[in-house]
Amino acid sequence: MSRILSGIRPSGELHLGNYLGAIKQWIDLQHDHETYFMVADLHAITTSFDPKTLPDDIQNVILDYLAAGLDPETATLFVQSQNPVHSELMWLLNTITPVGELQRMVQFKEKSAANKESNNAGILNYPILMAADILAYKAEKVPVGDDQGQHVELARDLAKKFNRLFGQTFPEPQAIHGLGRRIMDLTNPEQKMSKSMAGGIGLNDSEEEINKKLQKAVTGAEPGMIRQAKNMAEAAEKGAHMEWARDANLQKQAHGVRNLFTILFALGEKPEIEKWKMAAEEGKLQFSEFKPALAKIIADHFAPFREKRAKFLKKPKVVAEIIADGNKKARHEAEKTLAEAQQKMGLR
Ligand code: TYM
Repeated sequence: MSRILSGIRPSGELHLGNYLGAIKQWIDLQHDHETYFMVADLHAITTSFDPKTLPDDIQNVILDYLAAGLDPETATLFVQSQNPVHSELMWLLNTITPVGELQRMVQFKEKSAANKESNNAGILNYPILMAADILAYKAEKVPVGDDQGQHVELARDLAKKFNRLFGQTFPEPQAIHGLGRRIMDLTNPEQKMSKSMAGGIGLNDSEEEINKKLQKAVTGAEPGMIRQAKNMAEAAEKGAHMEWARDANLQKQAHGVRNLFTILFALGEKPEIEKWKMAAEEGKLQFSEFKPALAKIIADHFAPFREKRAKFLKKPKVVAEIIADGNKKARHEAEKTLAEAQQKMGLR
């Protein structure tokens, strides 16, 4: 069974992008892979955070994992900071990472531009810690959204380099993506949905809240554009790799409509999908009907999530045990890898 590792930062309520880009894939993968899913709290502290609420934020991500359907009997759920191996292995990897590689990371450029006042080395070294997260478990596959692909690529380069310099130690990890690899912000559909922006859908949102947000989603009335946007979402579903991302002339409205169709394809049942596809094909799609229907599809999909979450919330002891077990198992595995890496480097 091949190994899988992934994680999410505890920096605000999880949104539909986190779910479709990451968690939904994890749920599908957990039964036929050896899986490790962590809360990336050491990554979260590279940008502004509140030490008072951080423990709750971490707990909330674990609750979201459990509510979404990750099964602690098969998947190892743990908290990154509780395993010192990540930081230790990161130091070893630091010594083989070219600074130039870190400086050309898209997320580094975005985050350092946004945090000019409080720029820190953690933002630059962020992908090395991510490589340590992945390599500590000898993970081969890393299910993530599109924005993390470049970081996984670096982890792959570091694995290759380490193996070349010190002998075969790490498999070469690869990012894997699902249909929802890049869910866009509803009100600003040329940007990805993120925890800090207004146009996001939270996993705990009610149908009413989702509907309100969808009402504000950027769309357009032109039948040709709607058909084109639907076709783009359909092509992506069939495996075409985001050709829309390279189309500089694409209108903002088309990005918005494509995004809504992607969400429909990811969460809708077949008859509903067919119905709205047909409407777009025939030039009859009315957003006054499509948006509330999509709100219902999203809310219905997350109804079991909300129920399960409420149940786990009432069982803090059970959740604490799950975390403690996961931390223990993760640490045990990672310690073996660290010892091997230290040995290869002549440190043991
Ligand atoms: P984070 O917390 O920003 O995001 C968590 C996961 O959600 C995906 N994602 C999206 N997918 C589709 N559309 C979107 N709009 C969208 N927004 C976010 C992200 O791609 C990610 O998969 N550095 C990572 C966490 C991390 C990690 C790791 C991941 C730390 N160590 C090791 C994998 C392996 C991060 O900040 O993700």
